[in-house]
Amino acid sequence: MVGDDTHNLTIEVHNLTKVYVGGRPPAPGLRQKAVPDGEEPHTGRPAAAARGIYDLTFSVQKGEILGFLGPNGAGKTTTMRILTGYMPPTSGTARVAGFDIFEQPAEAKRRIGYLPEIPPLYPEMTVKAQLSFVADLKGVPRASRKAAIARVVEATNLGPVYNRLVKNLSRGYKQRVGLAQALLGDPEVLILDEPTVGLDPKQIIEIRQLIRSLGGKHTVILSSHILPEVSMVCERVAIINHGRLVGMDTPEGLARKLSHSQQLLVAIKGPQAQVEAQIASLPGMASWRPAEGEGAAQGATGAAGAGSRPAQTGPVLRYHLEAQPDVDLREPLFFQMARAGYPILEMRQVSLSLEDVFLQLTTEENTEPGDGQEGPKEGAQHV
Ligand SMILES: Nc1ncnc2c1ncn2[C@@H]1O[C@H](COP(=O)(O)OP(=O)(O)OP(=O)(O)O)[C@@H](O)[C@H]1O
Ligand SMILES: [Mg+2]
Repeated sequence: MVGDDTHNLTIEVHNLTKVYVGGRPPAPGLRQKAVPDGEEPHTGRPAAAARGIYDLTFSVQKGEILGFLGPNGAGKTTTMRILTGYMPPTSGTARVAGFDIFEQPAEAKRRIGYLPEIPPLYPEMTVKAQLSFVADLKGVPRASRKAAIARVVEATNLGPVYNRLVKNLSRGYKQRVGLAQALLGDPEVLILDEPTVGLDPKQIIEIRQLIRSLGGKHTVILSSHILPEVSMVCERVAIINHGRLVGMDTPEGLARKLSHSQQLLVAIKGPQAQVEAQIASLPGMASWRPAEGEGAAQGATGAAGAGSRPAQTGPVLRYHLEAQPDVDLREPLFFQMARAGYPILEMRQVSLSLEDVFLQLTTEENTEPGDGQEGPKEGAQHV
């Protein structure tokens, strides 16, 4: 990466690895059999479960919102702890806001707002005292401290509990205090470990909007188990499984790469037999079927339309089409139907949801690697 590219990257991670005691790296490409946390598989061998993270390499652009998605124990929190300088990696490098987090930790940390999984709070302090204490720690200048605190209190709706003791707050309000702390000082980079955990639905919506509004100016990494949340809030998603990065792209990009062939839903007006003959003869068509729940007669419009061509007076027919690999059917379908005089009233691509993508990338096959001798199969899919 050269020049501007490097300049625009706020977070750069290379080969980041953290092996916790008791864990050992999985062979690249091998599918891992799921092993419950802390348990040894019954094989007489040391736990093959990945404990930690392995060889993570990725970067985040300035102003981008990246979502970490992965099952429990995947390594999301571990990665965040390393990026925020709370824990050293076993190997690899990480630069945050232009500073190496291990070689220039003070400079890097000053530019990071971190909401850990369990926010560090002082139970005996009031919210007000807690926030001014953190503002002090973060070096927010005295002159602007009051305004800075007021801003984060408003953003996280902490007004009603401002003078209460932290220990008496509900879980959701404690989470909000944690988030307010992360936002204090307006840091360039925000690392938020499950920011909406414990919040009520109304607050979840508000916090998501808040995080979205931070994009552009701030670079944000957040982790979440809530797939719609990640699609809603994040521009790109990194899917982590057993400590490895198994996919990273926009939600749509991930779906595109994983769906091996294009699927289309179309509504075409015309007589059934002729329309189907046209579909069947389209080059690049792998298979087609009437779309579920849509009878051929549904949406019949009788003699609507100006023309007298029989094609325009037929029913609206709905089909699910599947293209051959790497074929885009949309244009040829359009032109063929136009030539035949059967108007396409609707055409849309059916893409995998983020749920589908996540399941495809993180679901185990029930194959146990042999004693390490098995050749690396195409394991956890890399996209
Ligand atoms: N301090 C530690 N010592 C030993 N192992 C650890 C430690 N912290 C985490 N692990 C292990 O590392 C793996 C990754 O854990 P991590 O907390 O990063 O996962 P996560 O993706 O954040 O999961 P969750 O969705 O449950 O928060 C797990 O197997 C976990 O048991
Ligand atoms: Mg976690």
